[in-house]
Amino acid sequence: MIIEVKDLTVGSFQGAINLVYEDKPANNEVVEVLKAKKVFEGKSGQVFYKTTNELNYEIFVGLGKYEDLERTDLINAVARGIKQAEKLKIDDLSINFIKANGLCTGGVTKSIVQGIKLASYKFDKYKQNQEAYEPKVTIIGGPKEKFDKMREKIAEASNIADGIILARDLVNEPANILYPETLAKRAVEAGKESGFEVEVFDEKQIEELGMKAFLEVGKGSVHKPRLIVMRYIGNANSDERVGLVGKGLTFDTGGYSLKPSASMDTMKSDMGGAAAVIGTMKALAENKVEKNVVAVVAACENAISGGSYKPGDIIGSMAGKSIEVLNTDAEGRLTLVDAVTYIIEKENVDKVVDVATLTGAVLVALGTEITGVVSNDDAFYEELLVAARRTGEKFWRLPNDKCFKKLYKGDFADLKNIGGRNAGTITAGMFIEEFVQDKPWLHLDIAGTSWTDAGNDVTPKGGTGAPVATLYELVVKHQCKHNKK
Ligand code: BES
Ligand code: ZN
Ligand code: ZN
Repeated sequence: MIIEVKDLTVGSFQGAINLVYEDKPANNEVVEVLKAKKVFEGKSGQVFYKTTNELNYEIFVGLGKYEDLERTDLINAVARGIKQAEKLKIDDLSINFIKANGLCTGGVTKSIVQGIKLASYKFDKYKQNQEAYEPKVTIIGGPKEKFDKMREKIAEASNIADGIILARDLVNEPANILYPETLAKRAVEAGKESGFEVEVFDEKQIEELGMKAFLEVGKGSVHKPRLIVMRYIGNANSDERVGLVGKGLTFDTGGYSLKPSASMDTMKSDMGGAAAVIGTMKALAENKVEKNVVAVVAACENAISGGSYKPGDIIGSMAGKSIEVLNTDAEGRLTLVDAVTYIIEKENVDKVVDVATLTGAVLVALGTEITGVVSNDDAFYEELLVAARRTGEKFWRLPNDKCFKKLYKGDFADLKNIGGRNAGTITAGMFIEEFVQDKPWLHLDIAGTSWTDAGNDVTPKGGTGAPVATLYELVVKHQCKHNKK
């Protein structure tokens, strides 16, 4: 897909997308007439198109009121325009640059690119008829003195979008195709393509590392577990290393604490955290970001067989703590605590972010658009919020008050893997906190945000690629003073 900037206000393209505010003059006669006739008023979500003399098609997309526009709204509006262009089979398009409240030129450019690239995403490799849509898009009407900056941002945003797309692809891949061994292969391929190192440990090596909790979860499956370690050293002169840990359940049946069918049918997506960290590594490496990051995925499948772990089992962990398994469906935290111990002790990271489709409870609390966060460090959480303002993704922190600790204290072991019905997202997060030692830590529960059933213009049904964009910005961490949103 080609996205460029040109010094034009109009041009001879096959089609033009016009982003229009409800409460700002559009500097476009056609729009003013449409607004006067109340055919198209620039309201948020509105789309209208017409054929013209000079251009084949003109597509108008409403942005709503200037003050109300959030970054996500802009991305969605661009995506809506692209979807309309696809329906009209337009391959050569222009889109008008706009100013947006609280966003700098780079921020607007990145959002436009993200809207274009993600709207064109499809997971149709298993369909007989595939319809790829890869238009050429020219951004026109931008500030000429910033064209170099805009070109830089187009390249950067395009690589971030590719990371998001990789994450979506991995989540959408079914569990008969994507299991620990093949997930590891995909990570190795991504590393080769984009430039990061990938080391894969097999079952025997995982045993040698003492990752007992992780091994228990995977032991009932014919697909053997893999520990996937990805390293990207973008600044060899620095000792700083950020650690990313992604939950990598390639399928979660629930085990003997079996899930009802209706809750099981999307459980190929239980490796959404793994997909997100792999996608983030790709984006960081492609953009040659000057930071050091290690990402770890403890990949396995939670299946039922005579050899599976059972409710009541008492198991060990790499950190030495014993755990009473009271529900085999609370498996994610068991794999994550060993991955967290590994990344701290063997990879020497100084901060840890774990990303996991961990609890149904986060859907009850926050729905499908806000990721739940548990953290032991206020400053690190603030950094996450700053990063999130640069992407439009939404996060909300839940308390890790010590009053919750008694809920997962073990009766017959150090800990138990469930804390009861109440505060399910918090107790799951705090269970992991027991293993982060003294490291600043963020736990992102993406059970609500990494998959969408409904879908929209920018994200079709399936994996969303959340929160790749924010993880990327969290690592990059350069604050643009212009961006307030
Ligand atoms: N993978 C699930 C969580 C999940 C639920 C992800 C819905 C995506 C959508 C996780 O392993 C799980 O089953 N958690 C249990 C924990 C409970 C047994 C304490 C849950 O949320 O029910
Ligand atoms: Zn589960
Ligand atoms: Zn799970």
